Amino acid sequence: MEKYPCKKNTAVFISGRGSNLKSLIKHSKKKNSLIKIILVISNNPDAEGLKYAFGSKIKIYGNKHKSNFENKSLKLLKKYNIDLICLAGFMKILSGNFIKKFSKPILNIHPSLLPKYKGLNTHERAIKNKDRFAGASIHKVTEKLDSGKVILQKKVKILKTDNVRSLEKKVLKIEHEIYPKAIDKFLTNL
Ligand code: GRF
Repeated sequence: MEKYPCKKNTAVFISGRGSNLKSLIKHSKKKNSLIKIILVISNNPDAEGLKYAFGSKIKIYGNKHKSNFENKSLKLLKKYNIDLICLAGFMKILSGNFIKKFSKPILNIHPSLLPKYKGLNTHERAIKNKDRFAGASIHKVTEKLDSGKVILQKKVKILKTDNVRSLEKKVLKIEHEIYPKAIDKFLTNL
């Protein structure tokens, strides 16, 4: 028996800061993690996260052109034998055609307790509705926005003193904690 698991070739899609990407790169370097991050793709060539990935010696690709973003990305995914895509703060909606053509799993992290608050401004909506809890969810990506099977979720309490910024900060912390766990859980159960 092999001592360490065979890691899945993984691509991470980002649009900006890339703090989740950083947590995934950190996780991928652990001997017993189930992913190897080979490629980082962005629809924003200026994304901060791309610089970090480049510094970590990971292949990067940035393309802001809507028309050929998906086709060029599909070619790279094939070239690098990617088995899994993790969307991490990726603000573009992937087409059904892309999901079908890639044909392997795509996961996403969403800053709400799905099925609550699909789409944008999740924290604002949770505060406005006086919810007691907010949180983050990792789910499988399907053609329907933020609607695929939830793999892992974690809650945080919304305090009376919380505002959008403080809540975002709290939720981001648990995002960094649960995305790596969710990926390994998902791959273990494949
Ligand atoms: C995260 O809150 C993620 O859940 C949301 O966008 C934010 C991206 O943050 N979709 P980062 O780029 O990973 O720092």
